[in-house]
Amino acid sequence: MAGKWVRMVTAQTPTNIAVIKYWGKRDETLILPVNDSISVTLDPAHLCTTTTVAVSPSFDQDRMWLNGKEISLAGGRFQSCLKEIRSRACDVEDEEKGIKIAKKDWENLHLHIASYNNFPTAAGLASSAAGFACLVFALAKLMNAKEDQSQLSAIARQGSGSACRSLYGGFVKWIMGKDEDGRDSLAVQLADEKHWDDLVIIIAVVSSRQKETSSTSGMRETVETSLLLKHRAKEVVPKRIVQMEEAIKNRDFASFAQLTCSDSNQFHAVCLDTSPPIFYMNDTSHRIISAVEKWNRSEGVPQVAYTFDAGPNAVMIARDRKAASLLLRRLLFHFPPNADTDLNSYIIGDKSILQDAGIQGKEDVDALPPPSEIKDNIPSHKFRGDVSYFICTRPGRGPVLLSDKSQALLNPETGLPK
Ligand code: DP6
Repeated sequence: MAGKWVRMVTAQTPTNIAVIKYWGKRDETLILPVNDSISVTLDPAHLCTTTTVAVSPSFDQDRMWLNGKEISLAGGRFQSCLKEIRSRACDVEDEEKGIKIAKKDWENLHLHIASYNNFPTAAGLASSAAGFACLVFALAKLMNAKEDQSQLSAIARQGSGSACRSLYGGFVKWIMGKDEDGRDSLAVQLADEKHWDDLVIIIAVVSSRQKETSSTSGMRETVETSLLLKHRAKEVVPKRIVQMEEAIKNRDFASFAQLTCSDSNQFHAVCLDTSPPIFYMNDTSHRIISAVEKWNRSEGVPQVAYTFDAGPNAVMIARDRKAASLLLRRLLFHFPPNADTDLNSYIIGDKSILQDAGIQGKEDVDALPPPSEIKDNIPSHKFRGDVSYFICTRPGRGPVLLSDKSQALLNPETGLPK
């Protein structure tokens, strides 16, 4: 095991958006939830974390860099994940490099970890979910751990609850489990990303000045003070989980949308039922809800579902490309870009939806007519600048290894960030 070699692995892991929300823990340290939850994995082409993990006998401590900046690994959640995954490490042999690491060596070897989000960490887009999932997945590969994705999800869960759902693509359920040690609180895949590939997702990153309550402390306060949460966890969510699984299986968009919107609204109601109340949505979020509700109602059948996590950003799931392009026209009508923002940086991700919407440049945005469902309600207000940008994406795949060495975030000779 002596020598100056560095062995490393790079992985890419998606983020996910819950359509039946996780909110509330029954065990804070193990991160065990009070109810099951269901999520859609988002296409990593637009939202993902890339992580390189390296091991070398020359490293003298575990170190981590996030988006190029060194961060501390001292926190309990990092330590739990590292401890759990180290205990599952196996023999590793790399004949090409002449490296042999025995199972027992792993406890004395140190790690370097570099992680990078392809989206702004501060935008409030579940960066910890993709981050912990990627860390655990990459380390499992580096250490030749034999655990399957579900077993790995139970480790990622100990980094951040929602992270366990990022170990799979498509549609994922986090089963709350019953065991006290948390071994049965893990994620399973309900359907892969090809199962329902009509869906198109548009995320409105909403401008906000306010620092939000973190999910961790917010849900702690809810568990301590909200009676509505008890009713939700015991009576409401179990039924919704069954209905949501059915809706996903049958690609029943009407049920999917109704359940998704209701569950988001109930999650925010539970936040409001917390003492002191927690406000995650703002006026822009509420305007987006109203616009979607009005349009869905006027169409008779739902075209779009919306859901909001612990912040003001809206995640909208459109039934198909046609609905997504009509949604984008509506969103751009209500929330046009600022004068100094060009369209190319205002709509990011899969820009082809913009073509479908018949919008080539900013002049087309200015010429958009009011949506037919609001034409009678003159005047229709515009809220320029209230959305920072939109991300167009779709359901996506689970974690992958990146074999292309040029994508590694650590230098193969030194094990330090490139
Ligand atoms: C509103 O997974 O961020 O996004 O387990 O304390 O790290 P911790 O919380 P986190 O909470 C996510 C809450 C949510 C809903 C969801 O993703 O299900």
